[in-house]
Amino acid sequence: MSNEGKTESEKAKVISFINMKGGVGKTTLTINVGYTLVKEYQKKVLIIDMDPQFNATQALMTKFKSIKEYTSLRDSQRTIANILVNQSMSMVSDMSETDNKNHIVKLLDSDEKSQGQLDLVPGDLSLTEFENSVRGSEKRLTKFIRDNQLAEKYHYILIDTPATYSVYSQASLLSSSYYTVPIAPDIFSSLGYSLLQNAIRKDLVLDDHQLTNLGIIFTMSSTYRQKRTSISESFKNDPKFKNTLKENENIRTGNIENFIYDMSKTKDNIVDITNEFIKRIGAQDESSKNTSTIQK
Ligand SMILES: Nc1ncnc2c1ncn2[C@@H]1O[C@H](COP(=O)(O)OP(=O)(O)O)[C@@H](O)[C@H]1O
Ligand SMILES: [Mg+2]
Repeated sequence: MSNEGKTESEKAKVISFINMKGGVGKTTLTINVGYTLVKEYQKKVLIIDMDPQFNATQALMTKFKSIKEYTSLRDSQRTIANILVNQSMSMVSDMSETDNKNHIVKLLDSDEKSQGQLDLVPGDLSLTEFENSVRGSEKRLTKFIRDNQLAEKYHYILIDTPATYSVYSQASLLSSSYYTVPIAPDIFSSLGYSLLQNAIRKDLVLDDHQLTNLGIIFTMSSTYRQKRTSISESFKNDPKFKNTLKENENIRTGNIENFIYDMSKTKDNIVDITNEFIKRIGAQDESSKNTSTIQK
């Protein structure tokens, strides 16, 4: 695939996985949809870990690299923190644009059999300390993506976001054209969803930024089977994925580095979700060609 002369629709789709609630499956979906895009659909995928809890990074580094390698990335300032923190405040004295590329870790490379590629911008626990100094730097991720022509290098860029609405959520959404909202259907789930919708609507940073809601993805679906009817009732008018992420013992027991795609019992479920994900983005692209409305 040539990097030059890409039309808008050939450029990477950037999608945030977001919800104001924690423990709803944001990280699980981000890494598993990412992995499935690579393995099943031979796509080039970049995962950006914006969550200070860096669960996606822990899972992916454990699976493909080692914790030792992560530590050395951190020590050499090659995580998301160094992209977001005002560089004059960071320890790195003179980071050039080219050096920015070092923030991307190759997890899975294309081989003869597959053209797919999985990369990661690692998260960083120290983002919790940085929150004050990164205020006002919500445009930095967008700039990082632009300066490194990442839209030309990937098919999909997936951003795992923290549960609290913060400068990290803003930076994620500002870099994204789409977002999807994982929801574990408990009785409070509609609360988190409407809080998120309000936060997005009221956020001045996102004014003039076109952002499309791809829809809710219900997660851990069978646990709540009995409650499902009333839950979907409370999201009656909202966009939703047809497919839901089924309750899966192998993930629940904390083995987040087990990919759903790699387990024969659950493979179809994540392929279906990923397929719907691709189609929903495609459908939005088609309709945005015909309209110029802002769909925040
Ligand atoms: N489909 C599922 N079945 C069982 N457990 C799940 C499923 N999806 C996520 N979990 C578990 O729920 C917890 C929260 O998921 P996670 O993806 O970390 O949520 P978030 O990123 O929204 O905080 C994790 O322990 C994860 O292993
Ligand atoms: Mg998470």
